[in-house]
Amino acid sequence: MNVGLPKEIKDNENRVGLVPSGVAALTRAGHEVVVEAGAGGGSGIEDGEYEAAGGKILPSADAVFARAEMIVKVKEPIEPEYERMREGQILFTYLHLAPAGTLTDVLLKRRVTGVAYETITAANGTLPLLTPMSEVAGRMSVHVGAYYLQKSNGGRGVLLSGVPGVPPADVVIIGGGVVGTNAAKIAAGMGADVTVLEASPDRMRELDDIFMGRVKTVASNPHTLEAGCRRADLLIGAVLIPGAAAPKLVSRTMIGTMKKGAVAVDVAVDQGGCFETTHATTHSKPTYLVDDVIHYCVANMPGAVARTSTFALTNSTLRYALELANKGFERAVGENPHLAAGVNTYKGKLTYEAVAQAQGKSFTPLEKTL
Ligand SMILES: NC(=O)c1ccc[n+]([C@@H]2O[C@H](COP(=O)([O-])OP(=O)(O)OC[C@H]3O[C@@H](n4cnc5c(N)ncnc54)[C@H](O)[C@@H]3O)[C@@H](O)[C@H]2O)c1
Repeated sequence: MNVGLPKEIKDNENRVGLVPSGVAALTRAGHEVVVEAGAGGGSGIEDGEYEAAGGKILPSADAVFARAEMIVKVKEPIEPEYERMREGQILFTYLHLAPAGTLTDVLLKRRVTGVAYETITAANGTLPLLTPMSEVAGRMSVHVGAYYLQKSNGGRGVLLSGVPGVPPADVVIIGGGVVGTNAAKIAAGMGADVTVLEASPDRMRELDDIFMGRVKTVASNPHTLEAGCRRADLLIGAVLIPGAAAPKLVSRTMIGTMKKGAVAVDVAVDQGGCFETTHATTHSKPTYLVDDVIHYCVANMPGAVARTSTFALTNSTLRYALELANKGFERAVGENPHLAAGVNTYKGKLTYEAVAQAQGKSFTPLEKTL
C-alpha cells in the first residue's frame, strides 16, 4: 500500500502521524511511505530521518494526498485538506465527527474511508488510542499546577513537596482513571500530599494496590468534594462518563471556598469540564481567575509537549496502520472487530451510530457496506 504522511496544519498542532521507526516498519513490510517535506518539524523530526527509514519526501501536501492510498494523520482534516481527499482513500486519524457536521458531509460526499482513532476499542472495553493522550495530560496537569502555584505566576507561593519542617502541598484529584492515576503518580513523585476522589469502589481498590498507601483514595460525593476543594492547593478535574458531558461536580460555591491563589486544572474540559466555572482555554492564553483561584482549562494539553505526545500516540497507532496496510481495508476490519469499531465513514455511508445520532443522519452498519 502507498501510505501518506502530511504535515498537520491545524493551528498550533505540532504532532505528526508517524515517526521514523513507524515509516521503517511500513517500508520493511513492503509498503511505500510518502512524507510531506517538514512533516515532523514540530516534533523535532527531520526529513532526513524519515528518508533514512525508507520514506520518500514529497514537496507538498497535494503531492502526498494525490499519491497515497492511506493517509495517516493526527487531527481531523480542516478546510484546505477537504479538496485533497478522494474516493476510497483511507483516512486514519482522530476525527471527533459527532459535533463536526461539515467534515462528516465532506467525508461522505468524497466517499473517504474514515477510520477514527478515538472509536477504536480494546478487548477490555477501553479506547486504546485515547489512553496515551490521557497519560500525557494527567502527568502534565501536575507540572502546570506546580508552575502556577509559584507566586511569580499568580499562585499562592507553595512548593508541591514542601521542605523539611514545612508540609507538602495538598493535591486533590477528582477521578482516578488514566488521567487521575498519572496525575497522582507525578504529584506523589514530587512529594505532594495526594488524595484521589473516585466514584468506583473497584477503581479505588486498584489505586490502593498501585500506590501502596502513598496516595489516599476517598469516595467521591458532594460532601467529600466540598472538603477536598477547601483543602486543595492544586485541584485536578479528571472524571469521565463515557459518551456523556462531564458532570459538574465542583460548583461555583465550592470554588469560592478554595484558598486564594490555589490552582484548579480541569483536564476534563474537552468533555465540557467538571467544574462549574470551567471554560476552554488555549496554550496561548491558558489561565483565568475565578474568586482568586487560577483556572487552567486547555482542551489540547498534549499539544504543549508535541514530541512526547507524537511518540506516545504513534506507539499505539502504528499496529493498526500496519494491519490496514498489510491486509487491505476490508480484510483488516473483517478480521478485527476492534479496528472495525474505528470506521466512521465508508463508501459514502455513515457507519458509526453515535455520530449518526448526534447529527440526525442515517446510520448504516459497516457489515452492510462491505
Ligand atoms: N484536556 C486535555 O488535553 C485532555 C487530554 C486527554 C484526556 N482528557 C480528558 O480527561 C478526562 C478523563 O480521561 P480519562 O482517560 O482519565 O478517563 P477514564 O475513564 O480513564 O477515567 C475517568 C474516571 O472518572 C471516574 N469518575 C466518574 N464519575 C466520577 C465522580 N462523580 N467522581 C469521581 N470520579 C468519577 C471514573 O470512575 C473513572 O475512574 C476525559 O474527559 C478526557 O477526554 C483531556
